Amino acid sequence: MSYTEGMLKDGALKGKTIIVTGGGTGLGKSMGLYFLKLGANLVITSRKLDVLQETAKEMEKETGGKVLAVACDVREIDQVEKLFDEADAIFGKVDCVLNNAAGNFISPTERLSTNAFHTVIDIVLKGTANVTMTAGKRWIAAKQAGTFLNIVTTYAWTGSGYVVPSAAAKAGVLAMTRSLAVEWAKYNIRTNAIAPGPFPTEGAWSRLLPGDLVKKFDPAKKVPVGRVGEHQELANLAAYLMSDYSAYVNGEVVTIDGGEWLQGAGE
Ligand code: HXC
Repeated sequence: MSYTEGMLKDGALKGKTIIVTGGGTGLGKSMGLYFLKLGANLVITSRKLDVLQETAKEMEKETGGKVLAVACDVREIDQVEKLFDEADAIFGKVDCVLNNAAGNFISPTERLSTNAFHTVIDIVLKGTANVTMTAGKRWIAAKQAGTFLNIVTTYAWTGSGYVVPSAAAKAGVLAMTRSLAVEWAKYNIRTNAIAPGPFPTEGAWSRLLPGDLVKKFDPAKKVPVGRVGEHQELANLAAYLMSDYSAYVNGEVVTIDGGEWLQGAGE
């Protein structure tokens, strides 16, 4: 047994249709792929249709499952409504949403333009609200159960320098997670969050950090267990929280970071 192995039983997500925002690349792609392996129907979405279609083809080939790729900017409510319409048309209904799409700039706050600050808030907080409200209204009207899983970060509660818009937006998403867990549980809608620490992805750190810093950057340096995470470890947790095995978990944020955040908030 190893932490790089899938943890849940085959078919654990069978019959569920799951939307993953930001599902074309990186951690969203890895979590989506595992949902598919566990029998879910998968809908992946981001702004880049060509990337999504390539990913969908790759995933279908690997699993024999069905993946729908839909271009959608989560900031645009009309596009979000269309995403759900398309998912309904292909799969009949949507059961779960992984709010994973995000934007972030690592920068001294005084050097950010107001528009840059607003852009991160729009993608992370308003985008998550758009997707969540759209799903929730539909589920409640149809008297259908649903599950939300929101990706946040530990600096949503510790705070951290140089990522202020992201920290503010993720704190909002965390508050939304806990608040909806209380309000919508009566409709059979659960809402949880995961706060991942450092997991390597294609290009996220190099996109976020300046060139000279990225060469020196050791993501495992502040992690007590001494390594970065494996995508499968995150996928196992996400699949558990999406599945009915976690039916009694609601309003929880689970940190998966090797203990990194306990080393103290960033500057
Ligand atoms: C400062 C920047 C900037 C940068 C753009 N802007 N890039 N400001 N630093 N690197 C400014 C622009 O000048 C503009 O302001 C405003 O932000 C909007 O820029 P656009 O290019 O129009 O934005 P848009 O096309 O909407 O896309 C922005 C974005 C994009 C979505 C954030 O950069 C993106 O897709 N990034 C990839 C997603 C991402 O970052 N994921 C990482 C999440 S991981 P002005 O004033 O000029 O109009 C994560 C984990 C934390 O968050 C890890 C911490 C280590």
